[in-house]
Amino acid sequence: MKTFTSSVILLASLATASPMRHANRRSAGPYDITNFSASKVHLSGYCNYAFDVSAPGLSAPAHCTAYLDAGFSGATWLAYVYEGAGNCDNAAVTWTFYQPTTEGSGATFNVTVNGVKGTYAVPAGDITVSLNSEPNPFDNDVAYTGPKAFQITDFEA
Ligand SMILES: *[C@@H]1O[C@H](CO)[C@@H](O)[C@H](O)[C@H]1NC(C)=O
Ligand SMILES: *[C@@H]1O[C@H](CO)[C@@H](O)[C@H](O)[C@H]1NC(C)=O
Repeated sequence: MKTFTSSVILLASLATASPMRHANRRSAGPYDITNFSASKVHLSGYCNYAFDVSAPGLSAPAHCTAYLDAGFSGATWLAYVYEGAGNCDNAAVTWTFYQPTTEGSGATFNVTVNGVKGTYAVPAGDITVSLNSEPNPFDNDVAYTGPKAFQITDFEA
């Protein structure tokens, strides 16, 4: 009798959980990111970003880029791509990228398609810092070295 009751409760909760999960997937994503690259130019503070994004609602992948200053050539972080600083060849897409300047921080990469914002947490281990010359604080390289393709599945409600 006890077993029967808990199965009924389990089935009831599954029945209520599934429609919600489907509703979320219909309204957003996933967004497929390919060819993602981000790196600081050697002996410069400027960072280059480029990626392609495919998403429901886009008839073709959008190509996005940015070229922004991280502050100085010795930066150990990637430049902040604030809202409006990144470019895409499709006006329906905007994006931001933020890595705190604290050493060993991961980054947040947000992509908005038709007003729906997806968030991706870039693990700290996917950003590689090279202190090329220990006595020279102005000669550091920083680059994204994680997977070039990944999915954004986390969407703002
Ligand atoms: C982008 O990524 C796709 C799939 O990974 C690859 O086939 C293509 O050559 C890449 N394009 C560029 C411009 O790197
Ligand atoms: C990305 O979106 C999240 C959730 O809205 C927000 O907390 C974060 O500040 C955003 N990051 C950037 C770089 O815009």
